[in-house]
Amino acid sequence: MGSALEPAGRDASHLAQLFWGLTIGAFVIWLAVVALALYGGYAAHKQHGPSTVRRLIIGGGVIFPVIVLTGLLTFSLSMLPGLLAPAPEGSLKIHVTGYQWWWRVEYLRDDGTRVELANELHLPVGAPVEFELESRDVIHSFWIAPLGGKVDMIPGRRTRLRLEPTRVGTYRGVCAEYCGASHALMAFYVVVEEQEAFERWLAHQAQPASAQGGEPFFSNGCGACHAVRGTRADGKVGPDLTHVGSRLSIGAGTLAADAASLRRWIQNPKHLKPSALMPAFGMLPETELDGLASWLESLR
Ligand code: CUA
Repeated sequence: MGSALEPAGRDASHLAQLFWGLTIGAFVIWLAVVALALYGGYAAHKQHGPSTVRRLIIGGGVIFPVIVLTGLLTFSLSMLPGLLAPAPEGSLKIHVTGYQWWWRVEYLRDDGTRVELANELHLPVGAPVEFELESRDVIHSFWIAPLGGKVDMIPGRRTRLRLEPTRVGTYRGVCAEYCGASHALMAFYVVVEEQEAFERWLAHQAQPASAQGGEPFFSNGCGACHAVRGTRADGKVGPDLTHVGSRLSIGAGTLAADAASLRRWIQNPKHLKPSALMPAFGMLPETELDGLASWLESLR
């Protein structure tokens, strides 16, 4: 899944470089300080004259830190322009909105249409992408550690983040700001793939659902909160479920998107994700639960 120190993105490799630069610098200075302390404790038995002491204090306490800190500051600041630059005009644009505790994902296509899904991103490798980030309740923080830095999602404000994946793979994104009971269960998957595979995926996501049936979904009012494009379900409160069966997870990285997990989730979401807003449907007859779960799994 990757970590910040196994970079798979342009910004992440700059940040990893910065981390190693600062860590090695700190280690070398630590060694020097320990060596001096040992020398002072065990080896130096004679008194130093006042001029040697003054030279030590000014050299070790003023000149040395000024040189080292200036060097480290210059090293870090030189990376800032690259990390803060916006994505070039015409780059892929994705709007992500944080909720307690999931992510609404909208791809903004060149023709002005939006393709919506939840808790999953696909990105083409080697291309810059611009994220617009927002929150509808509390402060969340959008972080795909192997690809780059994190940016807060602040209610009432729109923040931006530019990322550029450089390695194909599946990575895990997380919420990096404590946002309530299920903060630790607010994750998402990021699939970085070749341009062609990405375009095929996006074109498929833009299609309405193809599955027939789903009677229990409509008769139990699920469509008041969830949208399934191509059906009469057009709720905007919860995640869009149009192609939920094709996703890598449900419940924002909590469970696999298979019928058994979907059934457990519908039965009692709060048991799997404390304080989740979706009501439990455990009172439904077994056959309806099975029907709901297998219909949702068939939405691919
Ligand atoms: Cu959202 Cu922590």
